[in-house]
Amino acid sequence: MNYGPLLFFGVLATLAASWLGLVAVPRHQLAPLDADLSTNSANSVVTYPPARSGQAVQGHAIYVAHGCVACHTQQVRAAKDGSDLARGWGRRRTVARDYLRDSPAQLGASRLGPDLANYGERLGTNAFNLVRLYNPRMAVTNSICEGVPFLFEQRPVGLTGPSPEALILPPDGGVEIIPSAAARQLAAYLTSLSSGGELPEAPLPAKEEGNR
Ligand code: HEC
Repeated sequence: MNYGPLLFFGVLATLAASWLGLVAVPRHQLAPLDADLSTNSANSVVTYPPARSGQAVQGHAIYVAHGCVACHTQQVRAAKDGSDLARGWGRRRTVARDYLRDSPAQLGASRLGPDLANYGERLGTNAFNLVRLYNPRMAVTNSICEGVPFLFEQRPVGLTGPSPEALILPPDGGVEIIPSAAARQLAAYLTSLSSGGELPEAPLPAKEEGNR
């Protein structure tokens, strides 16, 4: 029997199915995504995600460069898929639109540390973040989080007293810790992390579903 046509159509069907599933459907779902959520009414120009400050954009590059994604995800699961919402890691599940301004997006796959998708709303002030980045053990006892102390300068306190830029730490023998521009950018990025409010494709879950 001649299996040629069968083989041909079998291979064609396999390739067509993968093209459909891996190219056409994702393109249909993701290509129309836009940061512009404006409605037709005149005064409501809403963009989401909001543009990050220049400092935070540079901080994103530093976050990527230091591999923080090895231990931290930025993706909040829906209540039915896990306890992320109950833990207060976000107000709603994460959707593709959340990553529109992140390149590369830092979804992550391992959660040795907490999810950071909504960190800025949860905890982040720049001053606290800088101390945590200098030495995570100063923020959380026995933390295994990787600090970036090499982005800070240790120097003697000047005659006029501590610099306004110095970290607010217990006095340490006339030494002060000054964050570099890169450290401040990384802190600004952490502060900017917000999983945002309600979206057409991701409504806020009701309180009883665990979004506390
Ligand atoms: C070896 C794994 C590991 C790496 C790498 C790591 N972290 Fe962490 N991180 C943790 C753990 C564990 C915690 C929880 C303990 C704590 O709060 O310090 C944490 C906590 C945090 C928190 C506080 C989160 C919260 O909800 O309280 C922030 C912010 C953070 N890390 C930022 C970073 C940044 C920025 C980097 C990259 C420079 C980084 N981490 C790299 C493990 C890691």
